[in-house]
Amino acid sequence: MEIKKVTERIQNDLEELARFTATPGNGCTRLPFTKEARGAVEYIKKVMTEAGLLVKEDAAGNVFGILEGEDTKRPCVMMGSHYDSVINGGNFDGIAGVACAIEVARQLQERNVPMKRSFVAAGFCDEEGTRFGTGFFGSGAILGKWDIESCRKFKDTAGVSVYEAMQEYGLNPERIKEAEWKPGSIGCFIEAHVEQGPVLAAKGTELGLVDCIVGIQRYMVTVKGRADHAGTTPMDMRADAMEMASGAIFGLPAWAREYEDGTVATVGYISAKPGGINIVAEEVQFSVDIRSRNSRHIDEIAQKLKEALEHAAENCGGSYEMEQKLKIRPLHLSEELLAVMERACKDRGYSYQRMPSGAGHDTLKIGQTIPSVMVFVPSKDGRSHCPVEWSEYVDLAKAAVLGADLIETLIREEEA
Ligand code: GLV
Ligand code: MN
Ligand code: MN
Repeated sequence: MEIKKVTERIQNDLEELARFTATPGNGCTRLPFTKEARGAVEYIKKVMTEAGLLVKEDAAGNVFGILEGEDTKRPCVMMGSHYDSVINGGNFDGIAGVACAIEVARQLQERNVPMKRSFVAAGFCDEEGTRFGTGFFGSGAILGKWDIESCRKFKDTAGVSVYEAMQEYGLNPERIKEAEWKPGSIGCFIEAHVEQGPVLAAKGTELGLVDCIVGIQRYMVTVKGRADHAGTTPMDMRADAMEMASGAIFGLPAWAREYEDGTVATVGYISAKPGGINIVAEEVQFSVDIRSRNSRHIDEIAQKLKEALEHAAENCGGSYEMEQKLKIRPLHLSEELLAVMERACKDRGYSYQRMPSGAGHDTLKIGQTIPSVMVFVPSKDGRSHCPVEWSEYVDLAKAAVLGADLIETLIREEEA
């Protein structure tokens, strides 16, 4: 195995995939069920076929490349990440893990590993939740967590539901349950991902082994007041939706900081209606994303948000709705798999450190029920979810080599 060859193959795939963006020249914008998503999926299918894999696209828009083992009834080993991106994101978040998984399939064949069980390289649809505010759509669907009703329920800011978006994309949402894998059919899950933070690059460490991932709650809050003339309506006679919303928004960062344990809260989206400079806001909508390693801290912040909104609505004579879009518990990754990864790092002479992840990943969803492990690759200056996101291709190659080592070890140990 030649690291140069592995690096070149990953670089080639990622450079090709970077073309599928709605914002050329300004980072990667590849939202779910769009033509950019379709372009990326078709490219992934082509590369998987060239890598000798059996290719399948499922009812949720996930794409799989299967390297069939001798016994297809044995639980498979799955490796992958997501192919969607945020708005004006980078060319590595998610998609680098898909490229690594395909590379692992190539390596397993080149190393002539006796595949007793199948290896599955996966590209998941809509991990980010950028469009519908939810997240983990594809990885949730393989666990049977999405149904027709939830596809109808969640909508993007233009009012298009997941259900409608799927139809427009050429998928049948009525068949969403067909995306579920039988319980027990996935033996373990591995994800390679860029760190998206500054730790590894600052320390000059080659790889990160993730031992826990934060829990997340997401909400879309809609505050309703009354549209009035901005000049003639006295301050004590208006129901200003912006005034009600801004009090709650102002509280969030302070509530998160109080814990001093890495708990974070973010309002990343806001819109006001009717949106005129001289009109009191009738409706304000904003997103809330709260994360912590401690579930209780997330619950407490959500509760404070609710109380602040209630108080503001009462004071101003308005109303509010707090729609929960996501609730997922923090995750501890498989100690057993981490130990194998550590051994592989030592054998290869790669420097590594164990670390937590503040970003959500498909592993956060899948790892709730299936033994999982994650490997992080350094991110230049820790930048991510922005166009300058960058990781070295050679570091991604190391993550792919490590993934292949892990799978080879699991298969050979099982054989012994
Ligand atoms: C995904 O990148 C997330 O952590 O929101
Ligand atoms: Mn990601
Ligand atoms: Mn992301």
